[in-house]
Amino acid sequence: MAINNEGQQQNQNQQLIGHKDLAHKTLLQSDALYQYILDTSVHPREHPCLKELREMTEKHPRNLMATPADEGQLLSMLIKLINAKNTLEIGVFTGYSLLSTALALPSDGKILALDVSREYYELGLPIIEKAGVAHKIDFREGPALPLLDQLLQDENNKGIFDFVFVDADKDNYLNYHKRVIDLVKIGGLIGYDNTLWSGSVVAPPDAPLMDYVKHYRPHVIALNKYLAQDSRIEICQLPVGDGITLCRRTT
Ligand SMILES: C[S@@+](CC[C@H](N)C(=O)[O-])C[C@H]1O[C@@H](n2cnc3c(N)ncnc32)[C@H](O)[C@@H]1O
Repeated sequence: MAINNEGQQQNQNQQLIGHKDLAHKTLLQSDALYQYILDTSVHPREHPCLKELREMTEKHPRNLMATPADEGQLLSMLIKLINAKNTLEIGVFTGYSLLSTALALPSDGKILALDVSREYYELGLPIIEKAGVAHKIDFREGPALPLLDQLLQDENNKGIFDFVFVDADKDNYLNYHKRVIDLVKIGGLIGYDNTLWSGSVVAPPDAPLMDYVKHYRPHVIALNKYLAQDSRIEICQLPVGDGITLCRRTT
């Protein structure tokens, strides 16, 4: 028997759960473990309209774009914890994160939702209406950058959002950050989605990557580097979904 760091005896011949690799302590090691999280903590608590939206989106050819249910649950928790009332979402698709947000906000809460495709948004809209939260959503169709620039032209829009979720074109994330930082209030939260980009952020240069992964990878890496040194925010990068970086504006 050996003594480990915590002073407990252990049998050296036994595989130790949770101590497989002392270089890190991530617990998520298998599809079965992820399914366990979904089955135990996420799907049983999912709002019936979110379930309907998720199942409808699963049939869409671009279903991989959808925010996963465990991440939707995280967004909902964050929004409630910070008592958000006014939020911005960049990248709506069929609306899973949008509906998660809308359900988490109080009845007078508001979401400004931006996407280049109204068609995507309208796929989920009947379900959002059924959930009774469509009145909270102001959807605007078009590329997000000019819409953000338009918002910033009015000084009154600076610092108006409690929460911002960015989940659109990764090559513009840094451009979004440069604008969104002035739109979120001090003490407010920004979530950047996909910041681990399928794990490719640590792939060796010659790793075989799908074209879209290869294309956006340098932009995601540049964003992560930028956020890590941006003194206007505190950050926390979570391995939920494809990685989400939470940024709390401090100044
Ligand atoms: C990953 S999906 C968003 C997923 C969504 N958050 C959900 O919960 O399912 C990315 C979305 O960004 C939109 N998009 C891509 N480029 C954009 C741009 N320049 N401006 C606004 N939206 C954009 C796409 O139309 C797509 O719906």
